[in-house]
Amino acid sequence: MKRNILITGGAGFIGSHLVRLMVNKYPEYQIFNLDKLTYAGNLANLADVEDKPNYTFIKEDICNFEAVRAIFEENKIDAVIHLAAESHVDRSIEDPFSFAQTNVLGTLSLLQAAKWQWKDNFEGKLFYHVSTDEVYGALGEDGFFVETTPYKPHSPYSASKASSDHFVRAFHDTYGLPVVVSNCSNNYGSYQFPEKLIPLFINNIRQNKPLPVYGKGENVRDWLYVEDHARAIDVIFHNGKVGETYNIGGFNEWKNIDLIKVLIKVVDKELGRLEGASEKLITYVKDRAGHDLRYAIDSSKLKNELGWEPSLQFEEGIEKTVRWYLQNQDWLDNVTNGEYQNYYEKMYKNR
Ligand code: NAD
Ligand code: DAU
Repeated sequence: MKRNILITGGAGFIGSHLVRLMVNKYPEYQIFNLDKLTYAGNLANLADVEDKPNYTFIKEDICNFEAVRAIFEENKIDAVIHLAAESHVDRSIEDPFSFAQTNVLGTLSLLQAAKWQWKDNFEGKLFYHVSTDEVYGALGEDGFFVETTPYKPHSPYSASKASSDHFVRAFHDTYGLPVVVSNCSNNYGSYQFPEKLIPLFINNIRQNKPLPVYGKGENVRDWLYVEDHARAIDVIFHNGKVGETYNIGGFNEWKNIDLIKVLIKVVDKELGRLEGASEKLITYVKDRAGHDLRYAIDSSKLKNELGWEPSLQFEEGIEKTVRWYLQNQDWLDNVTNGEYQNYYEKMYKNR
């Protein structure tokens, strides 16, 4: 079946993996990648698909409603997979306004454009909103987030994502817009901007720079290989039930400090250093404000209803990831040029 699918944020980390999957797997679909190319967006992430006949890149801000509306009309968009967002918690603590702007108002702009374009004919249409487990708040030592866990966001980032989730569901309940939402745990893999823990630490280890561990390193995250997230989105996009929410996670919890030690071992080995030698770079720094203790996703609804499961063991995923960054040092060097130095200085100088 032919479809015109608008993917937002396709030049970012998860978006680029999703665009690659959709363009290659579904030649009958036209994939339109709408991205503003902020610091986190990078067309080099998609160099291998940019010449494909079923792929079009559109540089635009999702907050520009008139431009977004025109994109829907000109390209007869019949489905949206919405990933564009400001995504880094530390940046949201410094500058909450831009998170409300992009994540809340940008999502509203897309919802309005979809409603406008589709009028009341929602047959065969879908608005898929990609969200995060952080909307549920923090867990103690036990338990998991399920789809019905009440929202309790703590950071400006998670509050903005929670708000966008509410708008998406409100458009379903009020106007009948066909929507689906997924909430995923921490992703890792290639093409992730090195502000996030894993690529930042790989980059610092290779450069023998300090590894800034927030607090005591005791916070727990549930890590999922990014290509498994992209596969989950594909499955939910095609088979998910309209109006439903699906949690996506790896059943793969790691205390930060334990994960960091594994990462150090793998990077040291790949660099031909004595395994564990880079542990001397570990530097405990001031904790992140409002730092959520633990996230853990129960993704059994997705497994039981749609048959999705993570495909990779963490050890295998982390080795693949480390090798990718070490073999693509040009990519790392390019994205850490210029502005990145100012960002790093500002974010870490008072810690
Ligand atoms: P990212 O920061 O790597 O990429 C975001 C992309 O959105 C970039 O290409 C950027 O240029 C684009 N963008 C930002 N503002 C825009 C705007 N106003 N208009 C158009 N484009 C804009 O993010 P990511 O880590 O790939 O996350 C993608 C989505 O998945 C986000 O919605 C995020 O909340 C969600 N998510 C991320 C994770 C994770 O671990 N990274 C986990 C769960 C959910
Ligand atoms: O849970 C899903 C979320 O995962 C996504 O919604 C976010 O977009 C994504 O950024 C990620 O958020 P986290 O805050 O969990 O990811 P981050 O990589 O920033 O941090 C992971 C953990 O590592 C967290 O407990 C904070 C800690 N940390 C992070 C950095 C950058 C450090 O100890 N030192 C650091 O320098």
